[in-house]
Amino acid sequence: MTRIISIANQKGGVGKTTTAVNLAAALAEKGPRILAVDLDPQGHLTINMGCRRPDDLELSVYNVLTDHRVDVREVRLRSESMKLDFLPANIELSGAELQLVTEFGRESVLKDKLETVLDEYDYIVIDCPPSLGLLCVNALVASTDVIIPLQCEYFGMKGMQQLQRTIDRVRAKLNPGLHIAGILPTIYKSRTLHSQEVLELVRERYGDEVFNITVDSSIRFAETPLAGQSILQYASASPGARAYRALADAVIAQESDAPVAEAEVLGQSTRVRVGPA
Ligand SMILES: Nc1ncnc2c1ncn2[C@@H]1O[C@H](COP(=O)(O)OP(=O)(O)O)[C@@H](O)[C@H]1O
Ligand SMILES: [Mg+2]
Repeated sequence: MTRIISIANQKGGVGKTTTAVNLAAALAEKGPRILAVDLDPQGHLTINMGCRRPDDLELSVYNVLTDHRVDVREVRLRSESMKLDFLPANIELSGAELQLVTEFGRESVLKDKLETVLDEYDYIVIDCPPSLGLLCVNALVASTDVIIPLQCEYFGMKGMQQLQRTIDRVRAKLNPGLHIAGILPTIYKSRTLHSQEVLELVRERYGDEVFNITVDSSIRFAETPLAGQSILQYASASPGARAYRALADAVIAQESDAPVAEAEVLGQSTRVRVGPA
């Protein structure tokens, strides 16, 4: 079965796109067939895949979502260097939410479109926009899993409840099987007390739901989009590359796990784990 993994957090600048690109590349490195989907009108994933001018593309994920005649196969592009396919996005996508509002089955448009190519991929990784609007809901409805990148700084945890509520609503109404694969601490500054304290707080509050992997802060990540490479290619032996390879291993290892019980949703586990010892 194809696993479809949304990288979601309505905050901007927390490492969603970086995680989507490098998780997709790290999975591809191990052999599975990968499709990465850019669902952010800023097109950052598209640029990071080596497509310098997304706004010049004639077809993008916007057309897939808004035109029933347009198929994923005619829009996807190939990154030979990362050994994966990707669905590009550009600024046009910012008009899609408004257009989808009047659509029948508007929350499931992406799911329906991806279904036509499921037999061609082992993993589909979706880079969500920095909002909880209809595009993000489309990603969550299409997904089997969600990974939440969380920046290790004080305001990083703000908004987690809102995201949880959206995930809960999607589960209740549209996609009961949606599984939180984990919270990924990102942009971690291991040498600052501040980052350490926040990470401790995150682990205290979310317990088992936090991956045992932290992505350390490194300037290298800011350099990869310009190079059109993943961190695995750009700095193959760096801590960042190791972290994303470890994340790919953790994601693959989850396949043998038993399905996560409904009671393990973020909010409830918070109550269980924060009480007195
Ligand atoms: N681990 C990291 N260390 C340092 N900078 C990072 C790291 N991860 C991401 N960045 C940088 O932070 C900025 C925001 O990251 P990005 O992945 O685009 O976040 P989002 O998609 O959530 O907006 C980018 O400039 C990116 O290069
Ligand atoms: Mg982004």
